[in-house]
Amino acid sequence: MEPLRVSLVGASGRMGQAVQDCARRHPETFALIGMPGRGDDWTAAFEHCDAVIDFSLPETTDALIEAVVAARKPLVVGTTGHDDEGRGRIAQAAKSVPILLAANFSVGVNALFWLTRKATEILGPDFDLEVIETHHRLKKDAPSGTARRLVEILADVRRLSLERDLRPGRVGNAGPREANEIGVHSVRGGDVVGEHTVLFAGMGERVELTHRAASRETFAAGALRAAAWLVRQKSGRIYDMEDVLGLREGDS
Ligand SMILES: NC(=O)c1ccc[n+]([C@@H]2O[C@H](COP(=O)([O-])OP(=O)(O)OC[C@H]3O[C@@H](n4cnc5c(N)ncnc54)[C@H](OP(=O)(O)O)[C@@H]3O)[C@@H](O)[C@H]2O)c1
Repeated sequence: MEPLRVSLVGASGRMGQAVQDCARRHPETFALIGMPGRGDDWTAAFEHCDAVIDFSLPETTDALIEAVVAARKPLVVGTTGHDDEGRGRIAQAAKSVPILLAANFSVGVNALFWLTRKATEILGPDFDLEVIETHHRLKKDAPSGTARRLVEILADVRRLSLERDLRPGRVGNAGPREANEIGVHSVRGGDVVGEHTVLFAGMGERVELTHRAASRETFAAGALRAAAWLVRQKSGRIYDMEDVLGLREGDS
């Protein structure tokens, strides 16, 4: 079988380098055929690839979406930190081309998503919910895309509202904790690749689910795996890594 021809946006960045390393270790499976940067014609650059992988910044979303739709290519988005408008544009484009958007490509973190849903269901409303994430000093967005996804899962199971119940950090005279709050806390420092803890704090007991990434390789390998999966899918909705791994409720 021919290797999957991949075009990579954000190739010069930390994640871009990790994807390049991973693809080069598997030349029989993946061929990086384009790494367009600022000022390049992305539609033309995508013409001969099977799929596009993006690890850049949310600022590139408009140009990226326009180019994949024009070139009619599946897109794997690893970039995090999109606002509602950016997400809306990605959702609109997903009607024309297959798009997979994953806050985190590691198998471990996707298992954490699944475990978080289950633990929230089992522990019920008497447990206070907090998410703590730690990343390297250069990370731009906060909270991390993975922390946002964890918060979405908690809010979904407990039927809470992100607008009303989210408490991103607490400062000053914050007062006693409300039962419905979901706290989210961002720690930044050094070269930490990424750590996420979901804390379920009850009276007399506490459950903590933690994932620690030691290298970016797991994200890179997951993004390439997602691209190989996505080229076999139809457009119509945004996919995520839980689809690739078969972790959706109801999947066998
Ligand atoms: N989904 C996951 O599993 C996962 C894991 C880790 C990180 N991430 C996310 O992936 C993204 C990249 O992270 P990183 O640590 O690799 O960042 P980084 O080292 O800062 O790299 C950013 C890349 O984007 C490019 N870029 C930025 N603005 C651009 C523009 N306007 N046009 C074209 N290219 C542009 C940069 O190119 P220049 O060299 O030209 O500046 C660089 O190649 C972040 O959103 C991060 O949160 C996701």
